[in-house]
Amino acid sequence: MLSYLHGFHAGNFADMHKHAALLLILEHLRKKKKPFCVIDTHAGSGWYDLGSAQAAKTGEWKDGYARVRDAAKAPEMLQQFLTYVAGFDPVAKGRGYGVREGDDYHGPFYPGSPFIVRDMLRDDDELILMELHPREHETLHHRVKRDSRIHLHKRDGYEGVVGMMPPAIRRGLVLMDPSYDVKQDYQKAAKAVREAWEKWPTATFMLWYPILEDGFDAELRASFGAIRASGGVLCAELATDQGGAKGRMRGTGLLVVNPPWQFDRQLGEIGDWLAKTCKLPGPANHQMRWLVPAA
Ligand SMILES: C[S@@+](CC[C@H](N)C(=O)[O-])C[C@H]1O[C@@H](n2cnc3c(N)ncnc32)[C@H](O)[C@@H]1O
Repeated sequence: MLSYLHGFHAGNFADMHKHAALLLILEHLRKKKKPFCVIDTHAGSGWYDLGSAQAAKTGEWKDGYARVRDAAKAPEMLQQFLTYVAGFDPVAKGRGYGVREGDDYHGPFYPGSPFIVRDMLRDDDELILMELHPREHETLHHRVKRDSRIHLHKRDGYEGVVGMMPPAIRRGLVLMDPSYDVKQDYQKAAKAVREAWEKWPTATFMLWYPILEDGFDAELRASFGAIRASGGVLCAELATDQGGAKGRMRGTGLLVVNPPWQFDRQLGEIGDWLAKTCKLPGPANHQMRWLVPAA
């Protein structure tokens, strides 16, 4: 049963942390001329209208993107992301963004992971997307169908990513960003990353997870601690001790297998700043630790 729609949550504090980390990894991949491949197992609909009724219903982006955008001085590495988001306007740009005539758009707009990656692809790079929700898939298809570098599948991201391993282009990233609609998602995510990494051990894998009161995040960290990747396994969490009840996040976490060189230092700087700038249910901090040290 797929009930989650990212339009209610786009641009929240978790997206700030996750998408900043995504951009750091993409920048690293672009440093070499050799093509790279990104597999986004839980893609969503591609981009979001923060002026929509959906976004207004939760107002989550006001505690995330709006605060970050309006803050006086972001770290330089985050500034690049903010400049990109500020210029992200599908309605103004039209073709190539899948804007539908007759739909009511308001803005501002926020790019989801498929467009953040798309806008960093070079001619020979590739993006593989999976999205299972019928309506989200249909919207995303409309938005990316003109780009021959992008391949979208209406397929389960957990079994799909393992089935695709290893991709033809052997440098790259797997982003797994589940909605955790059901508790089994935690085990499925851990199993899928482990099996995919065994078949593509040199890739970077980044899994997002929410920090709630249910303790499932601890199980995920334990599973990832058993992945003996030569580049190590890093855990980064932006969280507060307060809140977390009734399924509301008190924090956001990333597990990164084989993170790029200096990623920990860069994300550390960004995360410390986000902890002061975003609004979480209580005073927040950013913590990072290596679950598996790099060899
Ligand atoms: C958190 S959202 C993705 C947001 C997106 N990655 C971004 O950063 O903009 C999770 C998405 O996964 C989709 N989904 C849920 N279960 C899935 C599955 N087993 N395989 C593929 N997609 C799934 C949901 O429909 C939802 O659109």
